Amino acid sequence: MNPLESAAAAVLIGNWRGSYTVPAGGLYPHQWSWDSAFIAIGLRHLSPRRAQQELDTILSAQWADGRLPQIVFHSGRDDGYSPGASFWQSSSIPGSSAVQSAGLIQPPNHALAVLLVHEADAVASERRRFLERAYLRLVRWHEYLRTRRGGDEGLARIVHPWESGMDNSPYWDACLAGMTQTYDNDIPRPDLMHASPEQRPSNHEYGKYLYLAARYRDHGCDDADADFPFQFEDPAFNALWARSELALATIAELIGADPEPHRSEARRISTALEALWSEDLGCYVARNTLTGGLEEFRTVSGLVPLLLPSSPHTGDLLDLLRGPHFRLGQVAMVPSHDLTAATFDSARYWRGPSWFNIAWLIAEALFERGFTEEAERLSRNMDEGALAHDFPEYLDPYSFAPRGTRKFSWTAALSLDLSKRLEASRSARVAEEAEVAR
Ligand code: SER
Repeated sequence: MNPLESAAAAVLIGNWRGSYTVPAGGLYPHQWSWDSAFIAIGLRHLSPRRAQQELDTILSAQWADGRLPQIVFHSGRDDGYSPGASFWQSSSIPGSSAVQSAGLIQPPNHALAVLLVHEADAVASERRRFLERAYLRLVRWHEYLRTRRGGDEGLARIVHPWESGMDNSPYWDACLAGMTQTYDNDIPRPDLMHASPEQRPSNHEYGKYLYLAARYRDHGCDDADADFPFQFEDPAFNALWARSELALATIAELIGADPEPHRSEARRISTALEALWSEDLGCYVARNTLTGGLEEFRTVSGLVPLLLPSSPHTGDLLDLLRGPHFRLGQVAMVPSHDLTAATFDSARYWRGPSWFNIAWLIAEALFERGFTEEAERLSRNMDEGALAHDFPEYLDPYSFAPRGTRKFSWTAALSLDLSKRLEASRSARVAEEAEVAR
């Protein structure tokens, strides 16, 4: 193991809690849904068995309707996090998981992770029937998105900024500003004990977040509150859904099930995604499904459809990534928001800082499209930032300074994954050169 890999392993071991990994001991002391999937992608290099367990644990928190909850509170306590188990009271919601959990969801990157974890040790995976078990749950998860969150356009709706994973993206500004309601009780901010206030969402935003979460909970998390004031179709969420359907097709083939329904579902979602294309910005954007309006901001969510092999806008997205708005190769990784926008803030969570999970997704897309040099440069950039700053949550795009919390699990997991990938391509090149020299 190189120094990055040993340090990343130490973070992942430190954040392991027996059957799952916390994103960060202080700030995020429970199991988060899309974090778990990203974490498993790195854990597979340390222990494929542990990576399978991580995913088995999140998948077994599935609700009767198929949803995978945003957060699982295994301890049954708040443990200094808000809103925690005592806010959600999920055991009183029919059909919730046996373990306490939040009622909201997060982006569907799980099938992608299940496939990568399987590939790390296919023999052990087959022996434990990992894929068969995960497949049934993943199918029900995607079914929940289609039936309970599906709209007229054929995309899945999110009903809370937290569901996008990009809590304070400028996409949500107008909707939150237009909401007259806010949370009536005190707004607890234990997060500010672990990260500085200029690097986190504001109190104003938290008032809206808690109002929306409480209203969703009080409606039994049943997705039937027609006047619910926050309803959006988000590009990254839907692109990950389509991409995960492609992963499900491969999983189906591996276990002898029919891959075709998953391929056609991926095509259907990819086609529907075109409703989110903004010709003016040359980027995918979020759509407010209550007003039908597109939120005209360039954010990194709008670049994630690069992951879809059939995207008609690959060239446009690559131009955008390399141009003045995201400046690939000239700033830290990929900024979460347009560097030239008035709403850009280099320190504040999802309004500018560069995140490691998104850098991993973009690197993956660049590798797949054959832009190996750019993909490797981005991977090295990510690995350097991770190791130099003790695996920070995000980086200032210009100064490369660490922001948010440290020893952040997906930063460790995904930088470890890319380090392994870089090492594999180095060895392949050496082998090739030796072959030529013979
Ligand atoms: N990102 C949220 C938080 O900051 C939860 O998903 O707690």
